[in-house]
Amino acid sequence: MAQNTRLSAGNKRIAFIGSGNMGEALIKGITGASVFKNRNIIVTDIRKERLEHIKGLYKVNTTTDNRYAVKKSDIVLFAVKPQIISKVVKEIGDLIDKEKLIITIAAGITISSIQDHLKKKGKIIRVMPNIPAIVREGVSAIACGNDISKKDIEITKRIFNAVGRTVVVDESMMDAVTGLSGSGPAYVFLIIESLTDAGVKMGLPRDISRLLSVQTILGAAKLAIESGEHPGKLKDMVTSPGGTTIAGLHALEDGGLRSALMSAVEAATKRAEELGSLEINEFGNKRKKTL
Ligand SMILES: NC(=O)c1ccc[n+]([C@@H]2O[C@H](COP(=O)([O-])OP(=O)(O)OC[C@H]3O[C@@H](n4cnc5c(N)ncnc54)[C@H](OP(=O)(O)O)[C@@H]3O)[C@@H](O)[C@H]2O)c1
Repeated sequence: MAQNTRLSAGNKRIAFIGSGNMGEALIKGITGASVFKNRNIIVTDIRKERLEHIKGLYKVNTTTDNRYAVKKSDIVLFAVKPQIISKVVKEIGDLIDKEKLIITIAAGITISSIQDHLKKKGKIIRVMPNIPAIVREGVSAIACGNDISKKDIEITKRIFNAVGRTVVVDESMMDAVTGLSGSGPAYVFLIIESLTDAGVKMGLPRDISRLLSVQTILGAAKLAIESGEHPGKLKDMVTSPGGTTIAGLHALEDGGLRSALMSAVEAATKRAEELGSLEINEFGNKRKKTL
């Protein structure tokens, strides 16, 4: 559930560099929650048709000129693919000083790799959102570079709370965040698909089986959030002695579900570390990552 959605960022102006899937999710969230005045939002993309779509739906300013957008803004949010970041930083880097806040959501791109390519010291915040931001149920981890004020963190939280929930972490945790909540929606989609197939195997029509699977996951997640209880306690609540649930749980333990999920997060975290090093190299940064 989106948080603090009624808080506004006053007269701050924000530029979105790139307006693809994640950029649009954020624009939708912040316009819906009135975090910025629409006239204070400027969105760029290299695709004119994207900008027409964004302008038509969200009534914000658009341009294909990244430099113009950055000049007009107090906050610059990088929402291009990681491999495009170095190009964008080179293009607009000389316009950045410590008055402007940079927020980057590019997976694997470190704060220092951006700072190294700016002429002056910048204020940089790195955020890892996830795809349920599209339905305002995302979760975003926020990591701060040097010289970031409480106000900068507050405004970043407002932006990402408009599309779900936020946590503040040390940047050294970003690869683990990527392995858990960044990649996590795909793990859950796989579980939904598997449960649906299981229902079909047991004789349920597919549409009914899918609805039962999806709503069970949504409901269990909501109960875990709203009750604040340990998931083990919630599991015990629905597991009666000699009943059906304990039989199912035994089968899951036999199949190694816990271990498989831990291995998935571990593998994705390691892959995020590897890709992070590659991106730094594309940046021309010779330093080895030490995570
Ligand atoms: N999607 C996710 O689940 C997710 C989760 C966490 C973080 N992120 C991060 O979010 C960022 C954006 O991901 P996305 O999925 O939204 O990507 P996307 O859909 O490809 O959006 C990026 C947009 O920027 C445009 N673009 C390319 N070069 C540009 C330039 N020089 N100036 C302005 N715009 C430019 C792209 O056009 P073209 O398509 O023509 O290149 C595209 O429309 C990535 O860095 C990703 O790591 C995404």
